[in-house]
Amino acid sequence: MKAVACTPCAIAEAAEALESGLLVAFPTETVYGLGADAENPDAVARIYEAKGRPSNHPVIVHVAPGADISYWAQQIPEQAQQLIAAFWPGPLTLILKRAAHIPDAVSGGQDTVGIRCPSHPVAQELLRAFKGGRGGLAAPSANKFGHVSPTMAEHVMEEFTQELSPGGLIAAVLDGGQSEVGIESTIVDLSRLSTHGPVLLRPGHISAAQLEQVMQMPVASPDATAPRASGTLDAHYAPHTPVVQVRADELDQVVAQLQARGKQVALMSYQAHPAIQAQAWRHLPADPVSYAHDLYAGLRELDHAQADLILVEALPQEQDWQGVNDRLRRAAFDSRDVLARLLA
Ligand code: TXA
Ligand code: MG
Repeated sequence: MKAVACTPCAIAEAAEALESGLLVAFPTETVYGLGADAENPDAVARIYEAKGRPSNHPVIVHVAPGADISYWAQQIPEQAQQLIAAFWPGPLTLILKRAAHIPDAVSGGQDTVGIRCPSHPVAQELLRAFKGGRGGLAAPSANKFGHVSPTMAEHVMEEFTQELSPGGLIAAVLDGGQSEVGIESTIVDLSRLSTHGPVLLRPGHISAAQLEQVMQMPVASPDATAPRASGTLDAHYAPHTPVVQVRADELDQVVAQLQARGKQVALMSYQAHPAIQAQAWRHLPADPVSYAHDLYAGLRELDHAQADLILVEALPQEQDWQGVNDRLRRAAFDSRDVLARLLA
């Protein structure tokens, strides 16, 4: 099966497939999502099946611009309206107290729901066509559980070859070009505002500082002892080849040591390293927004190089880099062990 170009007719067909309980992958400005009717538990169960994802992990509900969020959530605080006015449509997910009719399969059995209104024009057209704009699409990133999120239709095809074959779990992939942002939405939890204040569950393109400015209150980082977002698990967003992060000033030496042991090195860097001759090399832009845009495609490309490891030049630690640093830290969660093994 090929990805479908986004003609009005293809979008109408995709909306119909979704209304009948099938899965459709669609582009968003962050990453591609694997969508199902959020009010149909059987359809949502198919997402878990296709992804190989544990069913107690909640999924985000995507809504059309101007949707009535009181249909999906309750006890909505004023701060939610402020964030919606400032950042929707866009790469921000709000965690709110869920409305009673939300299936457990969407909320992962919790008393909350994640909601986001994407800005990608194809996602918006699909949401307007689906149930006449009154529905919601439950959609995690369109990748196998724990793997790198897709930022292009081809990535989705690569992830789900079997599920996309005739009679498979996924009816179609809408091709909307490369995702603009490139990393998943910022997630802020407003469901326990009175006791915990707003809590940042996942950093992204929209920063904690931007959220704080709009709400005029501090945003807390997540409690490390209570990981509620699946993106907070170790080994998330990882390619198949082990990923190792190394400081820029140690890069030359580590590459030399690895190569002396006959290892094949794939390198991802944002600065020039003229002394290094890697087997595969992806140079990413030195600003955090462009880096995020290219990050996942870069990891996928280097994953195809059949190297012993993907060596990533560690990034600056400034606030602006928080989103990409978070994803790289998870991809390279066992850096030290991998390097020790390869250098043994
Ligand atoms: O940018 C995005 O958010 C993309 C696109 C497709 O919209 N979606 C995405 O979905 O990244 P997923 O399922 O890969 O990650 C959603 C994250 C998970 O870490 C999940 O645990 C968290 O959101 N989440 C969803 N509902 C939640 C809830 N009620 N409480 C806490 N975390 C929640
Ligand atoms: Mg994901």
